[in-house]
Amino acid sequence: MSYTERLPRTRTYLMCPPAHFTVEYAINPWMDTAVPVDAALAVKQWELLRTTLTDLGHAVHVLDPRPGLPDMVYAANGAFSVDGTVYGARFRYPQRTDEADAHRAFYQGGDWRFAAPEHVNEGEGDFAYLPAAYGGLVLAGYGFRTDPAAHAEAQEVLGRPVVSLRLIDPAFYHLDTALAALDDRNVTYYPDAFSPAARRVLAQLFPDAVLADRADAEAFGLNLVSDGRHVILNTEATAMAAKVRAAGYVPVPVELTELKRGGGSVKCAVAELRP
Ligand code: ARG
Repeated sequence: MSYTERLPRTRTYLMCPPAHFTVEYAINPWMDTAVPVDAALAVKQWELLRTTLTDLGHAVHVLDPRPGLPDMVYAANGAFSVDGTVYGARFRYPQRTDEADAHRAFYQGGDWRFAAPEHVNEGEGDFAYLPAAYGGLVLAGYGFRTDPAAHAEAQEVLGRPVVSLRLIDPAFYHLDTALAALDDRNVTYYPDAFSPAARRVLAQLFPDAVLADRADAEAFGLNLVSDGRHVILNTEATAMAAKVRAAGYVPVPVELTELKRGGGSVKCAVAELRP
């Protein structure tokens, strides 16, 4: 079998170091407040993720971590940007509310059109963008965090079609735990994380998708960042790495054991900036 060569596209990302990372409350099934986090290891693993991205030629902006916001390391949740327009986040749980201000300040200090949200939404946790699919398509998850009304709001703000997908398994509470963009037009996802109707929608839109199974999703193998060629995913997701390799991509494993304790992995820690 032969594949077209997978070409990388240089990206700009936003990350926030886990300087104040702890698991002191539980707002998803992965968080266990009884298991201590190795804070030094978390920082070391995060650094390696950051240098993995910069070594691949991508730009990484760093957001200042704020004390009292232990989940701020999951920078993907702070906003969602498409072609220079930013749809701000509004967090579901009060423990994370103030993170949205830090992200808003970052964009308002730069060359972005920032739209403050009315509805609850957790940024790239529940929104994904495929620039070359159907002329530019937004995929949006709901069921646990983001309010479906935010999907319509995002469409008004961004002027791109937004396809709503219902998540049904609390273990996969954000879209980015169950689906990822592999490049500008194709995705990988775990079908059983979605409602039967959402599964049909995904099968219709993405006939060539790379399908993942429950073990891949539980290893946070879908919580990946791809530049169109290199697929950065956590080391535990060995079967997922084999699947993306078989599809012609180059898996780049990074160890992120500590971030998994908060219910996240590679993608959660990396917001893509689309100027
Ligand atoms: N502890 C965080 C929460 O439950 C984890 C967020 C993970 N981020 C993500 N993009 N899935 O909100």
